Amino acid sequence: MNLDNIAQDFNSKLVKITNESQLEEARIEFLGKKGQITVLFSQLKDLSVDEKKSFGAKINILRQEVTSKITEKKEEFADESLNKQLISETLDVTAPTRPTKKALIHPISKVTSEIEEIFSNFGFNFAQGPEIEDDFHNFTALNIPEDHPARQMQDTFYLKNSKNLLRTHTSNTQIREMLEGQPPFKSCSLGRVFRRDSDQTHTPMFHQFEGFMVDEDVTMQNLRWILEKFLNEFFEIDNVELRFRPSFFPFTEPSAEVDIGYYKENGVIKIGKPKNPADQKFMEILGCGMIHENVLKNCNIDSAKYQGFAFGIGVERLAMLKYGINDLRMFFENDIRFLKHYGFEE
Ligand code: DAH
Repeated sequence: MNLDNIAQDFNSKLVKITNESQLEEARIEFLGKKGQITVLFSQLKDLSVDEKKSFGAKINILRQEVTSKITEKKEEFADESLNKQLISETLDVTAPTRPTKKALIHPISKVTSEIEEIFSNFGFNFAQGPEIEDDFHNFTALNIPEDHPARQMQDTFYLKNSKNLLRTHTSNTQIREMLEGQPPFKSCSLGRVFRRDSDQTHTPMFHQFEGFMVDEDVTMQNLRWILEKFLNEFFEIDNVELRFRPSFFPFTEPSAEVDIGYYKENGVIKIGKPKNPADQKFMEILGCGMIHENVLKNCNIDSAKYQGFAFGIGVERLAMLKYGINDLRMFFENDIRFLKHYGFEE
């Protein structure tokens, strides 16, 4: 039982160990249940009391040495693997950046936020109505009689097996707002509307922006002022020219269609007044009027006390005029070239 031989054997094996599993093998060989050092203890019982003491002490020292060398080696391996991990995870802050693809904002989103900003500044709140609507909120409450052409199948998408439909205008929100609240109202909504129509100037889905105001002394004068102020701000001009033409909507009385003045400069449409009045042209831009008393009654509003105006504008039309886009269908074809050309940076 030569302790020095065991120590030597251990040391020569230790220096050759290169990984944790070899280290574990060595630990078992020397310190395991049947390990070289462990079995020495079982041999103590054959020795005299004095021999037991001195030999036992020596084995203990050897066991401690071997244990601490194994622990040390184990820590070395742990450090090594941590360092390897750290090196593999380092970030080279001097590396060149990759070119990033910026997301661009669709013209409809851009115009939406512009409208929201302007009308919020006027003190209007924004409400949102459902796109799947019932007959009452889309038609009946708006004084659209049963036999009105707008109810016929060529205009409206009706849902199968349901009395519901896809709203044909944002005016449904007007009804919902008035039914839920109490006058005065100063409210807008902007969103998708749906009609069975598709050609260069019509898509089956488009966006409308609708505003209305109800109070004890609201007049057509207020409507005109708000529209002028809005269009001046929206088109970033100060000389918007509006022309009110008598028209008909079931939900307003009187009703008007509003034309906006424009002129062409080098073939490009400009909104506003031209230098030469002879160059002034007009195009229709929105519908509006004083809310019909039947509509107020349908919403439980005392029409002897309250009046209001309402208007509805096509959002695509506004975007086309402001940003020179000439085909309505391009908005929804999802062609990335359209977005690259007409999109806005954040
Ligand atoms: N709802 C109309 C349409 O879709 C637009 C409209 C016209 C809305 C006049 C109004 C209004 O609120 O007063 O064509």
